[in-house]
Amino acid sequence: MNGKHAIYRVYQALCAGMLRLFPAGRQTLVQGDGCITRIPEVLKTHGIKAVQIITTPGTIRRGTIAPLLAQCEDAGIRTVLYTEVSPDPTVAEVEAAAECFFVSGCEAILAIGGGSVMDCAKVAGARTVRRDLPVGKMSGMLKIHKKLPLLLAVPTTAGTGSEVTLAAVITDETCHYKHAVMDYCLIPRYAFLDPGLSCSLPPDMTAYSGMDALTHAVEAYCNRFCSPKMKAHAKKAVRLIGANLLTAYREPENKEARMNMLAGSYEAGIAFTNAYVGYVHAIAHGIGGLYHVPHGEANAILLPKVLAAYGSAVYTPLARLEREVRTSVAEDESREETDAVLAEAFIERIRRMNRSMGISEELAMLRKEDVPELAARALKEGNPNYPVPVIWEEEQMRVFLMEQVPK
Ligand SMILES: [Fe+2]
Repeated sequence: MNGKHAIYRVYQALCAGMLRLFPAGRQTLVQGDGCITRIPEVLKTHGIKAVQIITTPGTIRRGTIAPLLAQCEDAGIRTVLYTEVSPDPTVAEVEAAAECFFVSGCEAILAIGGGSVMDCAKVAGARTVRRDLPVGKMSGMLKIHKKLPLLLAVPTTAGTGSEVTLAAVITDETCHYKHAVMDYCLIPRYAFLDPGLSCSLPPDMTAYSGMDALTHAVEAYCNRFCSPKMKAHAKKAVRLIGANLLTAYREPENKEARMNMLAGSYEAGIAFTNAYVGYVHAIAHGIGGLYHVPHGEANAILLPKVLAAYGSAVYTPLARLEREVRTSVAEDESREETDAVLAEAFIERIRRMNRSMGISEELAMLRKEDVPELAARALKEGNPNYPVPVIWEEEQMRVFLMEQVPK
Protein backbone atom coordinates (compact mmCIF):
# COMPACT_ATOMS: atom_id res chain seq x y z
CA MET A 1 0.00 0.00 0.00
CA ASN A 2 1.45 3.39 -0.93
CA GLY A 3 1.26 6.52 1.20
CA LYS A 4 -1.73 7.96 -0.61
CA HIS A 5 -3.69 4.74 -0.21
CA ALA A 6 -2.85 4.65 3.49
CA ILE A 7 -4.30 8.16 3.86
CA TYR A 8 -7.44 7.02 2.00
CA ARG A 9 -7.82 4.09 4.39
CA VAL A 10 -7.45 6.33 7.46
CA TYR A 11 -10.08 8.70 6.07
CA GLN A 12 -12.42 5.78 5.28
CA ALA A 13 -11.92 4.29 8.75
CA LEU A 14 -12.84 7.65 10.34
CA CYS A 15 -16.00 7.92 8.23
CA ALA A 16 -16.91 4.32 9.09
CA GLY A 17 -16.35 5.06 12.76
CA MET A 18 -18.68 8.05 12.60
CA LEU A 19 -21.37 5.96 10.93
CA ARG A 20 -21.03 3.28 13.60
CA LEU A 21 -21.59 5.91 16.27
CA PHE A 22 -24.46 7.54 14.39
CA PRO A 23 -25.89 4.88 12.06
CA ALA A 24 -28.20 6.13 9.36
CA GLY A 25 -31.52 4.48 8.73
CA ARG A 26 -33.54 5.10 11.90
CA GLN A 27 -37.16 5.27 10.93
CA THR A 28 -40.48 3.50 11.37
CA LEU A 29 -40.96 0.68 8.89
CA VAL A 30 -44.46 -0.45 7.96
CA GLN A 31 -44.70 -3.42 5.62
CA GLY A 32 -47.17 -5.85 4.12
CA ASP A 33 -49.80 -6.10 1.43
CA GLY A 34 -52.15 -3.12 1.67
CA CYS A 35 -50.09 -1.39 4.37
CA ILE A 36 -50.48 2.01 2.68
CA THR A 37 -54.05 2.07 4.04
CA ARG A 38 -52.41 2.89 7.38
CA ILE A 39 -51.03 6.18 6.08
CA PRO A 40 -54.06 8.33 7.02
CA GLU A 41 -53.87 6.98 10.58
CA VAL A 42 -50.16 7.84 10.78
CA LEU A 43 -50.81 11.35 9.42
CA LYS A 44 -53.57 11.88 11.97
CA THR A 45 -51.25 10.75 14.78
CA HIS A 46 -48.96 13.60 13.78
CA GLY A 47 -51.85 16.08 13.58
CA ILE A 48 -51.47 16.53 9.81
CA LYS A 49 -54.39 18.20 8.05
CA ALA A 50 -52.87 18.65 4.59
CA VAL A 51 -50.34 16.40 2.88
CA GLN A 52 -48.43 16.93 -0.34
CA ILE A 53 -48.22 13.72 -2.38
CA ILE A 54 -45.22 13.65 -4.71
CA THR A 55 -45.60 10.95 -7.33
CA THR A 56 -45.71 10.40 -11.10
CA PRO A 57 -48.57 10.86 -13.58
CA GLY A 58 -48.34 7.08 -14.28
CA THR A 59 -49.10 6.22 -10.66
CA ILE A 60 -52.17 8.47 -10.76
CA ARG A 61 -53.25 7.11 -14.16
CA ARG A 62 -53.08 3.49 -13.02
CA GLY A 63 -55.43 4.37 -10.16
CA THR A 64 -53.27 2.53 -7.63
CA ILE A 65 -53.44 5.27 -5.05
CA ALA A 66 -57.06 6.37 -5.66
CA PRO A 67 -58.31 4.45 -2.59
CA LEU A 68 -55.58 6.05 -0.46
CA LEU A 69 -56.60 9.54 -1.64
CA ALA A 70 -60.23 8.79 -0.76
CA GLN A 71 -59.21 7.49 2.66
CA CYS A 72 -57.26 10.65 3.38
CA GLU A 73 -60.21 12.82 2.41
CA ASP A 74 -62.49 10.66 4.62
CA ALA A 75 -60.07 11.19 7.50
CA GLY A 76 -60.26 14.95 6.97
CA ILE A 77 -56.78 15.19 5.49
CA ARG A 78 -56.46 17.36 2.40
CA THR A 79 -54.24 15.92 -0.35
CA VAL A 80 -52.26 18.04 -2.80
CA LEU A 81 -50.70 16.25 -5.77
CA TYR A 82 -47.35 17.15 -7.30
CA THR A 83 -46.43 14.94 -10.28
CA GLU A 84 -43.79 16.86 -12.28
CA VAL A 85 -40.88 14.52 -11.58
CA SER A 86 -38.60 13.29 -14.36
CA PRO A 87 -36.47 10.10 -14.21
CA ASP A 88 -33.50 12.31 -13.24
CA PRO A 89 -35.20 14.88 -10.99
CA THR A 90 -33.98 18.43 -11.58
CA VAL A 91 -33.40 21.48 -9.41
CA ALA A 92 -36.37 23.17 -11.12
CA GLU A 93 -38.65 20.26 -10.19
CA VAL A 94 -37.47 20.37 -6.59
CA GLU A 95 -38.11 24.13 -6.45
CA ALA A 96 -41.58 23.71 -7.98
CA ALA A 97 -42.45 20.96 -5.49
CA ALA A 98 -41.27 23.10 -2.56
CA GLU A 99 -43.26 26.08 -3.88
CA CYS A 100 -46.35 23.89 -4.25
CA PHE A 101 -45.91 22.74 -0.62
CA PHE A 102 -45.93 26.35 0.59
CA VAL A 103 -48.67 27.71 -1.63
CA SER A 104 -51.05 24.89 -0.75
CA GLY A 105 -50.35 25.07 2.98
CA CYS A 106 -49.18 21.46 3.35
CA GLU A 107 -47.68 20.14 6.56
CA ALA A 108 -46.25 16.78 5.45
CA ILE A 109 -44.85 15.12 2.32
CA LEU A 110 -45.74 11.67 1.07
CA ALA A 111 -43.48 10.32 -1.70
CA ILE A 112 -44.94 7.45 -3.74
CA GLY A 113 -42.67 6.24 -6.52
CA GLY A 114 -39.19 5.09 -7.43
CA GLY A 115 -35.90 6.64 -6.47
CA SER A 116 -36.43 9.78 -8.53
CA VAL A 117 -39.71 10.61 -6.81
CA MET A 118 -38.32 9.94 -3.35
CA ASP A 119 -35.15 11.94 -4.05
CA CYS A 120 -37.19 14.88 -5.34
CA ALA A 121 -39.43 14.73 -2.24
CA LYS A 122 -36.46 14.59 0.12
CA VAL A 123 -34.73 17.65 -1.30
CA ALA A 124 -38.01 19.56 -1.78
CA GLY A 125 -38.63 18.91 1.93
CA ALA A 126 -35.18 20.26 2.68
CA ARG A 127 -35.87 23.39 0.63
CA THR A 128 -39.07 24.06 2.62
CA VAL A 129 -37.02 24.38 5.80
CA ARG A 130 -33.86 25.87 4.25
CA ARG A 131 -35.13 28.67 2.02
CA ASP A 132 -31.69 30.24 2.37
CA LEU A 133 -29.85 27.26 0.91
CA PRO A 134 -30.20 26.53 -2.83
CA VAL A 135 -29.91 22.91 -3.95
CA GLY A 136 -26.39 23.56 -5.31
CA LYS A 137 -25.26 24.52 -1.80
CA MET A 138 -26.86 21.39 -0.29
CA SER A 139 -24.63 19.22 -2.47
CA GLY A 140 -22.34 17.08 -0.35
CA MET A 141 -22.43 15.79 3.22
CA LEU A 142 -24.38 17.27 6.15
CA LYS A 143 -25.22 20.69 4.68
CA ILE A 144 -28.90 20.87 5.68
CA HIS A 145 -28.95 19.96 9.39
CA LYS A 146 -32.52 21.05 9.97
CA LYS A 147 -35.56 18.89 10.62
CA LEU A 148 -37.74 18.38 7.53
CA PRO A 149 -41.53 18.37 7.53
CA LEU A 150 -42.92 14.89 8.24
CA LEU A 151 -41.74 12.77 5.31
CA LEU A 152 -43.23 9.39 4.39
CA ALA A 153 -41.86 7.22 1.58
CA VAL A 154 -43.61 4.49 -0.36
CA PRO A 155 -41.27 2.82 -2.89
CA THR A 156 -42.91 1.44 -6.01
CA THR A 157 -39.68 -0.08 -7.36
CA ALA A 158 -37.42 -2.41 -5.41
CA GLY A 159 -34.02 -0.99 -6.10
CA THR A 160 -32.79 2.39 -4.97
CA GLY A 161 -33.42 1.98 -1.26
CA SER A 162 -34.02 5.74 -1.18
CA GLU A 163 -36.83 5.19 1.34
CA VAL A 164 -34.21 4.48 3.99
CA THR A 165 -31.05 6.26 2.81
CA LEU A 166 -29.74 9.69 3.74
CA ALA A 167 -28.96 10.54 0.12
CA ALA A 168 -30.74 12.12 -2.83
CA VAL A 169 -29.44 12.85 -6.31
CA ILE A 170 -30.70 15.98 -8.06
CA THR A 171 -29.59 17.11 -11.51
CA ASP A 172 -28.70 20.71 -12.19
CA GLU A 173 -30.21 20.99 -15.66
CA THR A 174 -28.21 24.11 -16.48
CA CYS A 175 -24.83 22.38 -16.27
CA HIS A 176 -25.83 18.64 -16.33
CA TYR A 177 -24.24 18.16 -12.93
CA LYS A 178 -25.68 15.64 -10.51
CA HIS A 179 -25.78 16.91 -6.94
CA ALA A 180 -25.50 14.14 -4.36
CA VAL A 181 -27.19 15.62 -1.29
CA MET A 182 -26.54 13.67 1.91
CA ASP A 183 -27.82 14.41 5.37
CA TYR A 184 -29.39 12.41 8.18
CA CYS A 185 -32.46 14.65 8.11
CA LEU A 186 -33.27 13.35 4.60
CA ILE A 187 -34.10 9.89 5.91
CA PRO A 188 -37.88 9.60 5.65
CA ARG A 189 -39.57 9.31 9.04
CA TYR A 190 -41.71 6.42 7.77
CA ALA A 191 -41.24 3.85 5.00
CA PHE A 192 -44.17 1.77 3.75
CA LEU A 193 -43.29 -1.39 1.82
CA ASP A 194 -46.48 -2.43 0.04
CA PRO A 195 -46.00 -5.13 -2.64
CA GLY A 196 -49.24 -4.25 -4.43
CA LEU A 197 -47.67 -1.03 -5.70
CA SER A 198 -44.74 -2.71 -7.44
CA CYS A 199 -46.80 -5.37 -9.31
CA SER A 200 -47.26 -3.00 -12.27
CA LEU A 201 -43.51 -2.53 -12.71
CA PRO A 202 -42.53 -3.77 -16.20
CA PRO A 203 -40.06 -6.70 -16.41
CA ASP A 204 -37.07 -4.64 -17.60
CA MET A 205 -37.51 -2.14 -14.76
CA THR A 206 -37.92 -5.02 -12.30
CA ALA A 207 -34.65 -6.48 -13.57
CA TYR A 208 -32.70 -3.20 -13.53
CA SER A 209 -33.93 -2.00 -10.15
CA GLY A 210 -33.44 -5.46 -8.62
CA MET A 211 -29.86 -5.63 -9.88
CA ASP A 212 -29.26 -2.10 -8.56
CA ALA A 213 -30.36 -3.30 -5.10
CA LEU A 214 -28.15 -6.38 -5.40
CA THR A 215 -25.20 -4.15 -6.31
CA HIS A 216 -25.82 -1.97 -3.24
CA ALA A 217 -25.73 -5.04 -1.01
CA VAL A 218 -22.70 -6.71 -2.63
CA GLU A 219 -20.62 -3.53 -2.80
CA ALA A 220 -21.41 -2.64 0.82
CA TYR A 221 -20.62 -6.19 1.96
CA CYS A 222 -17.26 -6.29 0.18
CA ASN A 223 -16.15 -2.85 1.37
CA ARG A 224 -13.53 -2.32 4.04
CA PHE A 225 -14.80 -1.27 7.47
CA CYS A 226 -18.28 -2.68 6.84
CA SER A 227 -19.46 -3.42 10.38
CA PRO A 228 -20.86 -6.85 11.33
CA LYS A 229 -24.28 -5.24 11.72
CA MET A 230 -24.21 -3.80 8.19
CA LYS A 231 -22.84 -7.08 6.84
CA ALA A 232 -25.89 -8.79 8.29
CA HIS A 233 -28.18 -6.31 6.49
CA ALA A 234 -26.29 -6.79 3.21
CA LYS A 235 -26.33 -10.57 3.54
CA LYS A 236 -30.05 -10.59 4.18
CA ALA A 237 -30.53 -8.40 1.11
CA VAL A 238 -28.46 -10.74 -1.09
CA ARG A 239 -30.43 -13.72 0.21
CA LEU A 240 -33.81 -12.08 -0.46
CA ILE A 241 -32.87 -10.73 -3.89
CA GLY A 242 -31.15 -13.97 -4.92
CA ALA A 243 -34.23 -15.98 -4.07
CA ASN A 244 -36.90 -13.62 -5.44
CA LEU A 245 -35.70 -11.41 -8.30
CA LEU A 246 -36.24 -13.93 -11.09
CA THR A 247 -39.70 -14.80 -9.76
CA ALA A 248 -40.67 -11.10 -9.61
CA TYR A 249 -39.32 -10.70 -13.16
CA ARG A 250 -41.25 -13.70 -14.53
CA GLU A 251 -44.40 -13.33 -12.42
CA PRO A 252 -45.03 -9.59 -11.99
CA GLU A 253 -48.18 -10.17 -9.94
CA ASN A 254 -46.47 -12.47 -7.44
CA LYS A 255 -46.92 -10.40 -4.29
CA GLU A 256 -44.73 -12.62 -2.14
CA ALA A 257 -41.77 -12.16 -4.49
CA ARG A 258 -42.52 -8.41 -4.78
CA MET A 259 -42.65 -8.08 -0.99
CA ASN A 260 -39.36 -9.92 -0.59
CA MET A 261 -37.77 -7.72 -3.24
CA LEU A 262 -38.95 -4.57 -1.44
CA ALA A 263 -37.54 -5.99 1.80
CA GLY A 264 -34.27 -6.90 0.07
CA SER A 265 -33.94 -3.45 -1.45
CA TYR A 266 -34.65 -1.90 1.96
CA GLU A 267 -31.99 -4.03 3.67
CA ALA A 268 -29.51 -3.17 0.93
CA GLY A 269 -30.39 0.51 1.43
CA ILE A 270 -29.50 0.33 5.13
CA ALA A 271 -26.25 -1.47 4.29
CA PHE A 272 -24.98 0.92 1.65
CA THR A 273 -26.07 4.12 3.38
CA ASN A 274 -23.75 3.04 6.22
CA ALA A 275 -21.04 1.12 4.36
CA TYR A 276 -21.08 2.85 0.95
CA VAL A 277 -20.95 1.43 -2.56
CA GLY A 278 -17.85 0.94 -4.73
CA TYR A 279 -16.39 1.22 -8.22
CA VAL A 280 -19.42 -0.44 -9.85
CA HIS A 281 -21.49 2.58 -8.87
CA ALA A 282 -18.67 5.03 -9.51
CA ILE A 283 -18.34 3.80 -13.10
CA ALA A 284 -22.09 3.29 -13.63
CA HIS A 285 -22.80 6.93 -12.74
CA GLY A 286 -20.41 8.08 -15.47
CA ILE A 287 -21.87 5.60 -17.99
CA GLY A 288 -25.40 6.76 -17.11
CA GLY A 289 -24.46 10.41 -17.46
CA LEU A 290 -22.69 9.95 -20.80
CA TYR A 291 -24.89 7.41 -22.56
CA HIS A 292 -28.20 7.65 -20.62
CA VAL A 293 -28.14 3.97 -19.74
CA PRO A 294 -30.53 3.13 -16.86
CA HIS A 295 -28.59 3.09 -13.58
CA GLY A 296 -29.57 -0.47 -12.68
CA GLU A 297 -28.69 -1.80 -16.13
CA ALA A 298 -25.20 -0.26 -16.00
CA ASN A 299 -24.70 -1.72 -12.51
CA ALA A 300 -25.91 -5.15 -13.60
CA ILE A 301 -23.42 -5.30 -16.47
CA LEU A 302 -20.54 -3.93 -14.42
CA LEU A 303 -21.03 -5.88 -11.20
CA PRO A 304 -19.56 -9.26 -12.29
CA LYS A 305 -16.76 -7.51 -14.21
CA VAL A 306 -15.64 -5.30 -11.32
CA LEU A 307 -15.89 -8.15 -8.80
CA ALA A 308 -13.73 -10.33 -11.06
CA ALA A 309 -11.23 -7.48 -11.40
CA TYR A 310 -10.98 -7.07 -7.60
CA GLY A 311 -9.57 -10.62 -7.60
CA SER A 312 -8.48 -12.35 -4.42
CA ALA A 313 -9.37 -9.32 -2.25
CA VAL A 314 -13.04 -10.31 -2.50
CA TYR A 315 -12.75 -14.12 -2.44
CA THR A 316 -13.71 -14.40 1.23
CA PRO A 317 -16.73 -12.02 1.23
CA LEU A 318 -18.05 -13.41 -2.05
CA ALA A 319 -17.58 -16.98 -0.82
CA ARG A 320 -19.65 -16.11 2.25
CA LEU A 321 -22.37 -14.61 0.06
CA GLU A 322 -22.35 -17.69 -2.17
CA ARG A 323 -22.83 -19.95 0.84
CA GLU A 324 -25.66 -17.68 2.03
CA VAL A 325 -27.50 -17.87 -1.29
CA ARG A 326 -27.01 -21.64 -1.54
CA THR A 327 -28.57 -22.07 1.88
CA SER A 328 -31.53 -19.85 1.04
CA VAL A 329 -32.31 -21.64 -2.24
CA ALA A 330 -31.59 -25.07 -0.71
CA GLU A 331 -28.77 -25.86 -3.13
CA ASP A 332 -26.27 -28.56 -2.29
CA GLU A 333 -23.61 -26.99 -0.08
CA SER A 334 -21.95 -30.14 1.08
CA ARG A 335 -19.06 -29.84 -1.40
CA GLU A 336 -15.71 -28.75 -0.04
CA GLU A 337 -14.70 -25.76 -2.10
CA THR A 338 -12.12 -23.05 -1.69
CA ASP A 339 -13.11 -19.41 -1.26
CA ALA A 340 -11.75 -18.71 -4.75
CA VAL A 341 -14.05 -21.32 -6.28
CA LEU A 342 -17.06 -20.13 -4.28
CA ALA A 343 -16.35 -16.50 -5.19
CA GLU A 344 -16.23 -17.40 -8.89
CA ALA A 345 -19.49 -19.33 -8.44
CA PHE A 346 -21.10 -16.21 -6.97
CA ILE A 347 -19.88 -14.04 -9.85
CA GLU A 348 -21.16 -16.64 -12.32
CA ARG A 349 -24.49 -16.61 -10.47
CA ILE A 350 -24.75 -12.86 -11.14
CA ARG A 351 -23.93 -13.41 -14.84
CA ARG A 352 -26.64 -16.09 -14.99
CA MET A 353 -29.20 -13.79 -13.38
CA ASN A 354 -28.37 -11.11 -15.95
CA ARG A 355 -28.71 -13.57 -18.84
CA SER A 356 -32.03 -14.88 -17.48
CA MET A 357 -33.42 -11.35 -17.52
CA GLY A 358 -32.09 -10.41 -20.95
CA ILE A 359 -29.43 -8.04 -19.60
CA SER A 360 -26.45 -7.68 -21.91
CA GLU A 361 -23.02 -8.97 -20.84
CA GLU A 362 -21.25 -6.07 -22.53
CA LEU A 363 -21.22 -2.29 -22.32
CA ALA A 364 -22.09 -2.03 -26.01
CA MET A 365 -22.29 1.77 -25.88
CA LEU A 366 -18.80 2.30 -24.43
CA ARG A 367 -16.48 4.24 -26.79
CA LYS A 368 -12.71 4.12 -26.58
CA GLU A 369 -12.41 7.91 -26.74
CA ASP A 370 -14.61 8.30 -23.62
CA VAL A 371 -12.46 6.06 -21.43
CA PRO A 372 -10.20 8.83 -20.00
CA GLU A 373 -13.21 10.95 -19.04
CA LEU A 374 -15.07 7.98 -17.53
CA ALA A 375 -12.00 6.90 -15.59
CA ALA A 376 -11.52 10.41 -14.21
CA ARG A 377 -15.16 10.69 -13.17
CA ALA A 378 -15.17 7.25 -11.51
CA LEU A 379 -12.04 7.99 -9.51
CA LYS A 380 -13.29 11.43 -8.50
CA GLU A 381 -16.39 9.79 -7.10
CA GLY A 382 -14.77 6.69 -5.62
CA ASN A 383 -11.45 7.88 -4.19
CA PRO A 384 -11.25 8.29 -1.25
CA ASN A 385 -14.98 8.24 -0.50
CA TYR A 386 -15.71 4.55 -1.12
CA PRO A 387 -13.81 2.07 1.07
CA VAL A 388 -13.43 -0.32 -1.88
CA PRO A 389 -11.68 -3.68 -1.42
CA VAL A 390 -8.87 -2.65 -3.78
CA ILE A 391 -7.94 0.98 -4.48
CA TRP A 392 -7.42 1.63 -8.18
CA GLU A 393 -5.29 4.36 -9.65
CA GLU A 394 -6.03 6.10 -12.93
CA GLU A 395 -4.01 3.58 -14.94
CA GLN A 396 -5.85 0.56 -13.49
CA MET A 397 -9.22 2.21 -14.03
CA ARG A 398 -8.35 3.04 -17.65
CA VAL A 399 -7.10 -0.49 -18.34
CA PHE A 400 -10.27 -1.94 -16.83
CA LEU A 401 -12.49 0.33 -18.94
CA MET A 402 -10.48 -0.29 -22.11
CA GLU A 403 -11.06 -4.01 -21.63
CA GLN A 404 -14.80 -3.33 -21.65
CA VAL A 405 -14.80 -1.45 -24.98
CA PRO A 406 -16.55 -3.65 -27.57
CA LYS A 407 -14.10 -5.07 -30.09
FE1 LIG B 1 -27.58 2.32 -7.07
